[in-house]
Amino acid sequence: MRHGHPDVDLGSPPRAPTVPLVVVFESVESGAATVEAEAPPGTRLVDLCDERNAPVPFSCRSASCGTCRIDVLEGAELLEPPRDEELDVLDIFGDDPARRRLACQAQVRAESGRIRVRPVDP
Ligand code: FES
Repeated sequence: MRHGHPDVDLGSPPRAPTVPLVVVFESVESGAATVEAEAPPGTRLVDLCDERNAPVPFSCRSASCGTCRIDVLEGAELLEPPRDEELDVLDIFGDDPARRRLACQAQVRAESGRIRVRPVDP
C-alpha cells in the first residue's frame, strides 16, 4: 500500500554552499610566498602552521616567550578571544590584543570567512 506521492522527494530545502574558513599566513619578507589553509572551528593556528609549514616562528609554544606574535591583518573577530596567559604575554610587549595575537595560543572560532596574519617584524 502506498501513501502520498512516493515519486516526489520533499527532502530538506537546498542549502547554500558552505565556504570554509581560510587562514592566510603572510611572510614578513616581501615577495615571499604566502601560505593558505582551510581551518574548521577549533583549529589552533600553531597546528595549521606545523601542517602547512607556515612562515611563523615558534619557540616555547606555551604563551611564555612572544616569539610567535602575529599581526592579525584581517578577521580578528573570527578567532577565539585570548585567554589570560596570552593576554599576559601581549601585555609585556605592549601589544593590542585586538590586532596582535600569539600564534601558539590563537584558535579559530568561525566556520567561514578569512583570517590574514603576518608575523611581527623582528
Ligand atoms: S611560541 Fe612562545 S609565546 Fe608562542
